[in-house]
Amino acid sequence: MTASVDTTPLPHWETVPADLKAAIREVKAALRARIAASGRTVEEVFAVIEQRVAARVAEIVAQKERGEAVWPVIDYADIAAGTVSDEALALLHRRGCLVVRGHFPREQALAWDGEIVDYVESNRFFENYRGPGDDFFGSVGSKPEIYPVYWSPAQMQARQSDRMARVQAFLNRQWRSESDGVRWFDPDRDSLYPDRIRRRPPGADSGGLGTHLDPGTLELWMTQAYQRAFRHLFDGTVEQYDPWDAAHRTAGPQYPGTTMCSVFRTFQGWTALSDMDHDQGVLHTVPIPEAMGYLMLRPLLADVPDDDMCGVTTNKVFPANETWHALLLQAVSGIPDVKAGDSVWWHADMIHGVDPVTDQKGWGNVMYIPAAPWCPRNEAYAPSVREAFRTGSSPSDFPAEHYERTWDNRFSFDDLNETGRRGLGLG
Ligand SMILES: [Fe+2]
Repeated sequence: MTASVDTTPLPHWETVPADLKAAIREVKAALRARIAASGRTVEEVFAVIEQRVAARVAEIVAQKERGEAVWPVIDYADIAAGTVSDEALALLHRRGCLVVRGHFPREQALAWDGEIVDYVESNRFFENYRGPGDDFFGSVGSKPEIYPVYWSPAQMQARQSDRMARVQAFLNRQWRSESDGVRWFDPDRDSLYPDRIRRRPPGADSGGLGTHLDPGTLELWMTQAYQRAFRHLFDGTVEQYDPWDAAHRTAGPQYPGTTMCSVFRTFQGWTALSDMDHDQGVLHTVPIPEAMGYLMLRPLLADVPDDDMCGVTTNKVFPANETWHALLLQAVSGIPDVKAGDSVWWHADMIHGVDPVTDQKGWGNVMYIPAAPWCPRNEAYAPSVREAFRTGSSPSDFPAEHYERTWDNRFSFDDLNETGRRGLGLG
């Protein structure tokens, strides 16, 4: 085996290629050639990742069979006091997901939930609701399950709270933010990323959401920045692939589309606004950060048609399915019971989905608030967030529904604290 690294530039498309299938064929051939130039075959490189992942799958399957909890849980008090144990940190790294217990006092979270109801009812939201603005979270009845509401006082209070900032900084620090003399992001400053809320009532039937990923689609293989970010998968140094390395991930472009997320997130997350039992249609993940390497390399194997990326395409979420990822899906693991005020987090590249439920017991209410540290990509999105905040509009990553433009009790500029201002790029 030679250790040479092929430095021939890969074909890349900084905007969506006009002919997707031709571009897939071209980039796959080039990635295979680059791997081959290292002296290893695609099959050998994939086998390295497959083994790493298979060991984790076996461990998780055994834990589930023993009835043990798979998801790490850390008390907010330990994060705030800096007393999280080394064992807990190691498990967070191993699993890539986390429940933060008592992130907010339960009474606070329940009060926020009630305030959101008052906010939307005072603005006659349910009378005016026009149906889902996108097909991603669609298929609900006349009352939405996902509320396209971004600027309620409750959401903004949570986003700019000290408690949220502490947890985000803790999570951001699980990633490597500096390498090769570059500071890829600032772990101690979050860029405020407005997202929606979900309120699912008792008795609800929900089909759930199939297993998928959110970091992007074809750009993960096709833009220069991501080709560098995932370089170890493609240049014969697969052993060095580190899912926690932010290098080259925080400045490059995303392909536009209905499922895009403009910002770089270290973790996706939500804060519970109601108590939820683990069997009531809750979030599941494949809690293996290295699985991203498997997902990136799998399309290069010979059994996948040359113009297919295992079903990944623009304008659709990145699917994880039994056809191509059966090994990974054995490890699907749900969150434990959570209380209002707990928060739930998962590595931004992680496979996740939502279980179906019939006749749900209790409410299923959450505020989506990720950890999205300040970096060039997030700074570039911030002006559109500021404009959406100023006008009460839907942020540009989301359907242009704009319900809140005429709602005068939304969170106001004067209510911003220093964290909120910094998160919007104002100070
Ligand atoms: Fe998702």
